[in-house]
Amino acid sequence: MRTRLIVGNWKMNKTASEAATFVDELRQHLSKVPSDVELVVAPPFTALESVGRVLGSESFIQLGAQNLFWEPKGAYTGEISAPMLKDLGCRHVILGHSERRTLFGERGDRIRKKLQAAFAHGIRPILCIGESLEQREAGSTDDVLAQQLHESLAGFSSETLESLTVAYEPIWAIGTGRSATTEQAVAAHQTIRAVLSATASPVIAERTRILYGGSVTTQNIASLLSSEQVDGALIGGACLEVSSFATIISLASTTRSIGV
Ligand code: 13P
Repeated sequence: MRTRLIVGNWKMNKTASEAATFVDELRQHLSKVPSDVELVVAPPFTALESVGRVLGSESFIQLGAQNLFWEPKGAYTGEISAPMLKDLGCRHVILGHSERRTLFGERGDRIRKKLQAAFAHGIRPILCIGESLEQREAGSTDDVLAQQLHESLAGFSSETLESLTVAYEPIWAIGTGRSATTEQAVAAHQTIRAVLSATASPVIAERTRILYGGSVTTQNIASLLSSEQVDGALIGGACLEVSSFATIISLASTTRSIGV
C-alpha cells in the first residue's frame, strides 16, 4: 500500500516572509494532522530557510525544493546544490518540471545528473514527465512518457530508484484550468508503472508513487484520487491559498480509492 503524497509547488511565488506566514496559517487551518497522507511544500529557494524555521524538523509538513544543480559546489554562478538543500532540511526535490524543460532547456541527460545528485545526497526526487497537446493529439503520449523515463532513469539500480516519485504532468493541463480526466490520468499512470516495471523492476513499479499534476483543484481532487493508480497530486495554483490547499489535503486524507 502506497501512502498518498500531496506536494505544493509554489513555483516563483511568495517572498520569504509571505511563505513563513503561509505555512503557519496552513498548520493552524489543518484541524488534524493527516496520518494517511504525506505532505510536502516546495517554496522558492529564497523561502526555504524561513519556511523550514517555522515548520521545525519534526513537522508533518515536509520541505521540498523546486530544482537543484548536480555539482556539490564550485564556480556555478546562480546555482544551488543538493548539499545546500539538505542543510536547509529539504527532503524532496522536484526535477524535470515542464517549465524547466521548455523555458530553461532541460533535457534527459541534465535531468539524469540532477537525479543522481539527489539520490547521492539522500533527497527524494519527484521526477516530472508529461506530453504536450500536440503529442497527445498525435497519439504518442505513451511513447513520450516512456522516452522521458528511459532517458532520465537509465543506469540507476533498482535499489537507488526506491526513493523515486514520478509526477505525471501533461503540459496542456498545467495552469490552464483544463485538468486531465481521471481516465486519462489513470491510463498514463498505468503506462508509467509498466515502463518502471520493465526498466527497474516489478517491485519498484509497485512501490513507486505516481502523482498527477495539472490544474488540480478542490473540485477534481477526489475524482483523480478515486483510482488506486493515482498516489497523490503535485499542485500549482491551488496550493497558493491556504483554504484551497487545506481542503485538497483533507480530501486526500478522507477519500478512498476504488481499486482500479
Ligand atoms: P497548476 O496546478 O497550476 O496547473 O500547476 C501544476 C504544476 O505545474 C505543478 O507542478
